[in-house]
Amino acid sequence: MTASTGPQTVTGLRWTRRHLLGLADLSAEEITSILDQAEEFKRLAAAGETKLNALAGTVVANLFFENSTRTRTSFSLAAKRLSADTIDFSSSGSSLSKGETFLDTARNIEAMGATQVVVRHRTPGAPHLLAKSLGVNVLNAGDGTREHPTQALLDIFTIRERRGTLEGLTVALVGDILHSRVARSNIFGLTTLGARVIVCGPATLIPPHIEELGVEVSYNFDDILAEADCINLLRVQFERQRGGFFPSVREYAHLFGMDGPRLRRAKDEVLILAPGPINRGLEITPEVADGGHSVILDQVTNGLMIRMACLYLLNQQNQ
Ligand code: CP
Repeated sequence: MTASTGPQTVTGLRWTRRHLLGLADLSAEEITSILDQAEEFKRLAAAGETKLNALAGTVVANLFFENSTRTRTSFSLAAKRLSADTIDFSSSGSSLSKGETFLDTARNIEAMGATQVVVRHRTPGAPHLLAKSLGVNVLNAGDGTREHPTQALLDIFTIRERRGTLEGLTVALVGDILHSRVARSNIFGLTTLGARVIVCGPATLIPPHIEELGVEVSYNFDDILAEADCINLLRVQFERQRGGFFPSVREYAHLFGMDGPRLRRAKDEVLILAPGPINRGLEITPEVADGGHSVILDQVTNGLMIRMACLYLLNQQNQ
């Protein structure tokens, strides 16, 4: 099959950034241009154009220093769909165990000809270090508790696809806000696009002064259920927690888990999102995760389109 050359940018906006490090400083126009480009890739895929020539001759390196299922595989597939060559690096089994540094590892991958580097690392700011140190496009695939921009973009894309706009919608982010890079990127993206954002969880898992980011705070899920157009259930990140943030998982599920009775008290058209991986029975029951309001697998499908759009737009700076 001959690969299609693919679309020109659909917005007409010339992308001027070399890196995607977070959503904190992206304008509404920039976020919308990524969403529109992803929509165009989705339209092409539906029309059977699943292989595009847009990144032919380039090399996309996935550098994952932390575990991942969705982000790593969808970035890898996105690069292949755009005809880039790919390098998939995982820290486990690498020469990091022999003392090689993060930066030396990245420089060696760059020396193999990588033109775009996708990086996930447990240290906040690791992608920023690569952006300063390498001559490639850097895409943040999650840095500690700081940002996970492509996850928020695919969440926002999924909401826009179902509701047409973000403007005026109420989106509840529920759960472990304190440790969640997904929450931070969602807050930046959603508020920039005009959504009302409520963060909800146990007081111990809500960062102090988070209102300064333009969100409302609730410590009682039942109080906000009826107001939310979309509910994004964030995973309790046990691996980042030091100490007990709530008495028991049973109590957490009772107070903050999304289950059938809560779904029946929510809006009729409520969308249920979760970035994954989900802890079934903790943040969300199987009945809700697999039910008619859930768009969790749509989010995964859309993640591929978002990652294609990000790779494609950033590559404009290399031409
Ligand atoms: N949502 C998300 O980032 O999933 P992975 O950790 O599997 O990439």
